[in-house]
Amino acid sequence: MSTNRQAYRASLLHLLDDPAVAGDGAVVWHEDGLLLVEDGHVAAAGSFEDLAPALPDGVAVEHLPGKILTPGFVDAHIHYPQTDVVAAWGAQLLDWLTEHTFPVEQAFEDRAHADAAAAFFLDELLRNGTTSALVFGTVHRTSVDALFEAALARNMRLIGGKVLMDRNAPAALCDTVESGRADTEALIRAWRGQGRLGYAVTPRFAVTSSDAQLAMAGELAAAHPDILIHTHMSENLEEIRAVEGLFPGHGSYLGVYERFGLVTDRSVFAHCVHTTADDLRKLTEAGATAAFCPSSNLMLGSGLFSLRKACGCGTRVALGTDVGAGASFSLLHAIGEAYRVGQLQHEPLDPLEGLYLATLAGARALKIDHRVGNFEVGKEADFVVLDPAATPLLARRTAAAQSLRDRLFALSILGDDRAIQRTYLMGRLAHAR
Ligand code: GUN
Ligand code: ZN
Repeated sequence: MSTNRQAYRASLLHLLDDPAVAGDGAVVWHEDGLLLVEDGHVAAAGSFEDLAPALPDGVAVEHLPGKILTPGFVDAHIHYPQTDVVAAWGAQLLDWLTEHTFPVEQAFEDRAHADAAAAFFLDELLRNGTTSALVFGTVHRTSVDALFEAALARNMRLIGGKVLMDRNAPAALCDTVESGRADTEALIRAWRGQGRLGYAVTPRFAVTSSDAQLAMAGELAAAHPDILIHTHMSENLEEIRAVEGLFPGHGSYLGVYERFGLVTDRSVFAHCVHTTADDLRKLTEAGATAAFCPSSNLMLGSGLFSLRKACGCGTRVALGTDVGAGASFSLLHAIGEAYRVGQLQHEPLDPLEGLYLATLAGARALKIDHRVGNFEVGKEADFVVLDPAATPLLARRTAAAQSLRDRLFALSILGDDRAIQRTYLMGRLAHAR
């Protein structure tokens, strides 16, 4: 069979490691770069001058002057059924769930509704340059069937799961220990190995699962070592008090999850805003990831996550939009929001660290970094074409940029889906503005 090749000449930017740990040597930047894609995988990524002479015969090079190619963004925490609760005014977490979120999630019992919502959601991810995500469904098994079917059709590398919750929620949104187990196992059986999909056992949070259900979730995770664990933790002070009341004698919020076998190197805990130093240490020792969701934390008034504290402890951190509590699908916007949260604590985020969080760190959290997350040769060619001149203000500001950091920072503060000129999945165009 003949090889299918495409080549793109533009600026190239990606991370080989966490620049906060490995230094600027982890940053790969080619002002005049070339990305060669063969059969959907990265065949070469480097400077145009170095690579052009060795290009295979007959490969047409598409020149994208002024544009920047980066790996596709990886959203480490998002809820697809919450697209319609974006921009809800006023409430904090527990009231927001009751007043806004639970009513909207009930509609996902209907497959046609779920199909339409999944299609909109995935197209919105692609419009924003997000090529992989760790996604909450609803309690309904069909919600995940709809999501996976739509992601498979688009060939997205996506991980999702059916929500487990058997208490403290409307009856229409509650499963049981046994139905939650049966539905989760059926979904794993149905979707394992299909396309680029993965499964995450998804207990919503400790407030909405009984001891027995959390124990069941831990058993499922242990029985299927290829799947992730995805939940929320220590987002809001009222939530933390509720967990203390529901699980007396567990010592801490993380202690609840630990007791049920849910703290592993395959666990992603959304938020961790108020995580104690002791819990942060345990989470780090387990190799679990905290998904930092700055837009959500600001919108729900949850508090300020300290990246410095987490990184000082060696904790794995990735970036999530947490739509619908988060107000934007854009991980560029999330980098900007993470910067603002940092500023309020006198720890401004380096924009290159922000790009790491939005790409390779997310891939690491989702255990897909051997496939995506940067432009290492052999990885799947999921990438975006950033347009630093997407708006008149961006054009003016980035033309005057003093450095790569400055240009990227302007993109994170002023940019959103408008700055994503194209999104590619395995070398195939999946979105163009
Ligand atoms: N904690 C439990 N459920 C949710 C949710 O849907 N969104 C957020 N932000 N936090 C949660
Ligand atoms: Zn969430």
